[in-house]
Amino acid sequence: MNKATRKTVIAGNWKMNMTPSAAAKLISELAPKVAGKNECDIVLCVPFVDIDAAIKAAEGTNIKIGAQNVHFKESGAYTGEISAAMLCEVGVEYVIIGHSERRQYFGETDETVNLRTKAALAAGLKVILCLGELLEARQSGITEEIVSMQTKLDLAGLTKEDLKNVIIAYEPVWAIGTGLTATPEQADEACGVIRNVVENLYDKETAEALTIQYGGSMNDANAKELLAKVNVDGGLIGGASLKSDAFAAIVDAAQ
Ligand code: PGA
Repeated sequence: MNKATRKTVIAGNWKMNMTPSAAAKLISELAPKVAGKNECDIVLCVPFVDIDAAIKAAEGTNIKIGAQNVHFKESGAYTGEISAAMLCEVGVEYVIIGHSERRQYFGETDETVNLRTKAALAAGLKVILCLGELLEARQSGITEEIVSMQTKLDLAGLTKEDLKNVIIAYEPVWAIGTGLTATPEQADEACGVIRNVVENLYDKETAEALTIQYGGSMNDANAKELLAKVNVDGGLIGGASLKSDAFAAIVDAAQ
């Protein structure tokens, strides 16, 4: 395993938090705290209406801006949805796809995750593709099967070239927003399962180059241990990304 050659990416997922003015304020507080921390890429995935304010506030800093979802159609009668071209035109670089909250509350399936991923990649966006098992799956001992199946279904039809613009975020659903964190060993093991599946689907080189994040109650206190694991190449951070000090400390842990 060659962790050193992979890009570490620390990404915040603000979810449905922060108005545009609050977004600008948080980014201007965060920017000096993470200035020069170039050992990882730093991304904030913000609500759609915050994108403009966030991009302006992040101009000239090492903070990149992402969205939290994208539709798979180019345009049309899909009330309330946002297309990949729309995101590109406003300057978004990254997009989260398949977050467990989308799967749980908004009917997202592996099939729609796959379609959205293809649309985002075709438009030139980088994708943070989320997957992970429910508590019942973990307790039944089928985490590996679930995570493997999701990886295969979500990546179906993508090329090796596509994978260069994909990050996978392993997010055990029982750890999201609950304060329960996977142990570093559990995180490493599941990220390793994903990497193996990618190696089987593509090749070793592609698997070795893939950034795989852990997400689920990562914070300034546990980040260092999680990020030290060979298969964990970053974090997708919800709650702790809403405070500049906590998020900056996670960026520090990735240096
Ligand atoms: P959390 O959220 O850090 O608040 O658990 C992580 C996520 O949902 O991506």
